[in-house]
Amino acid sequence: MQPFRYHVFACDQQKPEGAPCCSARGSRKVVDALRGEVAAQGLADQVQITACGSLGLCERGPNIVVYPEGVWYSGVTAGDVPELVRSHFHDGKPVERLVNRDVQAVRVEIESNKSKMQAGMKAKDAAGALPDDLAQTIRGFQDSRAVLTGIELDAFSAVANGASAGQAAAQMGTDPRATEMLLNALAALGLLSKHDGTFHNAPVSARYFVAGSPDDARAATMHTAHLWHRWSTLTDCVREGTAVARRKPREVDDRWTRPFIAAMHRNARERAPHVVGAVGTAGVRRMLDVGGGSGAYSIAFAQASAELHAEVLDRPEVLDIAQVHIDRAGLGGRVTTRVGDLRADDFGEGYDLVLVSAICHMLSPGENRDLLRRCRHAVAPGGRVVIQDFILEQDKTAPKMAALFSLNMLVGTEGGASYNESEYAEWLREAGFGEAIRVRLPGPSGLMVGRVG
Ligand SMILES: C[S@@+](CC[C@H](N)C(=O)[O-])C[C@H]1O[C@@H](n2cnc3c(N)ncnc32)[C@H](O)[C@@H]1O
Ligand code: FES
Repeated sequence: MQPFRYHVFACDQQKPEGAPCCSARGSRKVVDALRGEVAAQGLADQVQITACGSLGLCERGPNIVVYPEGVWYSGVTAGDVPELVRSHFHDGKPVERLVNRDVQAVRVEIESNKSKMQAGMKAKDAAGALPDDLAQTIRGFQDSRAVLTGIELDAFSAVANGASAGQAAAQMGTDPRATEMLLNALAALGLLSKHDGTFHNAPVSARYFVAGSPDDARAATMHTAHLWHRWSTLTDCVREGTAVARRKPREVDDRWTRPFIAAMHRNARERAPHVVGAVGTAGVRRMLDVGGGSGAYSIAFAQASAELHAEVLDRPEVLDIAQVHIDRAGLGGRVTTRVGDLRADDFGEGYDLVLVSAICHMLSPGENRDLLRRCRHAVAPGGRVVIQDFILEQDKTAPKMAALFSLNMLVGTEGGASYNESEYAEWLREAGFGEAIRVRLPGPSGLMVGRVG
């Protein structure tokens, strides 16, 4: 008994430069077309599509294999897909012109390709060439830079429902030749498609990178574009031991703040249900959200309990943005803002919950000790401080995201870093919290909870 009538393995392997592969012959379009057509023909509960690595017929791709019969198709194009889905999955008749019927020949071809590939790998190794995955990591910035330039120039909005390079260039005020090169690269990355010289947004770009889309992530992604400039100073930061890019004129700060808070808000909206679920609201009437940013966590806690009042403490320019989110949520009566300096302020007292989300990584160990002492003073008996952050494993080499985020703090702050559980536990105990417990959450960040006994 199978959960699906057909299981389709569609090769989407990308091989290093020049090597024949399904990806280079348009397999991504075939996989997308298969998924779309199976759904459109009402067969989604009967046909499972799995994108897979090389099937061994690399010079004749895109290749797919259909089980349970084990029918091998080669040279499938997106244009063949509607017929294939109707004929094979609906009527049970494989599309013969695309099927490899000579099993013995297929076996020989796979063996021959395997030998060629192994010989190629041996030759590369003997020549001292970098392994492919290492070479890819080293060049990884190129993919990233192309997408970020697309965002900075608003290229996806310029392409809109279809545009030539010249039309997009006119819209963006850019050079037509260079624009075509950029759009071609974005198409190679799967973010655009190109038909007869006209570019179209891929579904993922249309959803996140086009003006007016409900899930528009352009402002948040601009924050990553800003980080790019800081990361270019990493070598000097490692030499100096601290951030060397001192951003200050005022207008730079303003240009920075909106995308930064937009990025924080997107993360927070996704993380908040996990945090509220893990922390709970029982017994929480007063909450302080230290460096609360867009207010997304305060809003989520207030939505979870009608008893709860939250204060978002942050800089005035950030609180203007928070106020918009608070008003939009209709929580103006129970979520309030408080201008303050988290590095120095006395936070007051009597809070059942003090949330310190994505703050400790900006600070040095000494600054965190000081912050948590002031939080301890603010927490009422029986209350808690909840730290949310990337928490490193003991030797600080994992998770990878937290280890890399530490560098993000090196290039952007004076003394910030990612920290491990022992460091947080030690600071919490030193600050006077009787109990310091780590709570693991789904996703990249976790909690450290300090309780006042
Ligand atoms: C990484 S964001 C985290 C925002 C929010 N807590 C969250 O988890 O989404 C850091 C926040 O701390 C605020 N912040 C940084 N330095 C501050 C200071 N000295 N006083 C008050 N807020 C500060 C920033 O404006 C920003 O909103
Ligand atoms: S890359 Fe697809 S079959 Fe080899």
